[in-house]
Amino acid sequence: MKRIGVLTSGGDAPGMNAAIRAVVRKCIFHDIEAYGILYGFRGLINGDIKKLEIGSVGDIIHRGGTILHTARSEEFLTEAGQLQALKQLKDHKIDGLIVIGGDGSIKGAHSLSKLDFPCVAVPATIDNDIAPTESSIGFDTALNTIIEAIDKIRDTATSHERTYVVEVMGRDSGKLALWSGLADGAESIIIPEKPKDFESVISRLKQGYERGKKHSIIIVAEGAGHGFKLGKKIQEVTQLETRVTVLGHIQRGGSPSAQDRVLASRFGGSAVDLLRSKQFGRLVSIKCNQIVDVDLSEIINHEQQINDKIYKLAQELSI
Ligand code: F6P
Repeated sequence: MKRIGVLTSGGDAPGMNAAIRAVVRKCIFHDIEAYGILYGFRGLINGDIKKLEIGSVGDIIHRGGTILHTARSEEFLTEAGQLQALKQLKDHKIDGLIVIGGDGSIKGAHSLSKLDFPCVAVPATIDNDIAPTESSIGFDTALNTIIEAIDKIRDTATSHERTYVVEVMGRDSGKLALWSGLADGAESIIIPEKPKDFESVISRLKQGYERGKKHSIIIVAEGAGHGFKLGKKIQEVTQLETRVTVLGHIQRGGSPSAQDRVLASRFGGSAVDLLRSKQFGRLVSIKCNQIVDVDLSEIINHEQQINDKIYKLAQELSI
């Protein structure tokens, strides 16, 4: 390995910069040239590639977003797009590629790997929905952002004795909703993996108010329902004063937590090691606090599951 390329793709996640830094510094430490590919797979197709030096990744470990920028590329989903990407890698004499991103990005790395290009992927998504890894870069920071926001909402909910619906991110995954719901003692958590009927949300709310609760927090993952519609329906049915907050993209920004910085540094360093030792087509993961790697195809064969015990516990604690 003489030249390694690195790109970030899909939705950004806090800690991506720390991972880029780890890749670049680890490469340079081992006398490998590091190349940054801008704008994810779209930039790869267009040959938007630049050499990265030690200083290129200085002062970024604590910054959210990604200095390499990111994009969602439709073109890369086509065979022609993938072959063009491959040509760019060869033209730039890049021997191995590290893809940092979520589900779609890892599938992109898998496509290149199937075309026999040496690829390794690093899971980075606030959704934490990559089945083989217990944690992905960005999840912890996003979770802390949500908790900070809900703590503030709780203050005003208590003062006004209102019901609050908080919509959090997670198109197909309820992890952010579930973990923030447990961490924040939400009365109801609505996630795509555990469809809930409206009546059960209402009866839980009513039970609480009958027992003397003066305010409630309901967390809904964006993939499980529409916060504003839900809030309106709750107010209509219960006559309880209800307000709605959609947290939106603030969940994706901000300085990465210590946990995400450490995870990103470990993942980035391991990705370079895998390429150096010719272990291609691998996904870096974490299991029981140990960095492991699995075949990229596992992203396709394994479905992300919600932890039933955590879901049950959250329900038991919010009686
Ligand atoms: O994949 C991360 C994520 O933040 C999801 O939770 C969300 O559904 C999606 O990205 C939003 O994507 P975009 O910023 O492209 O609208």
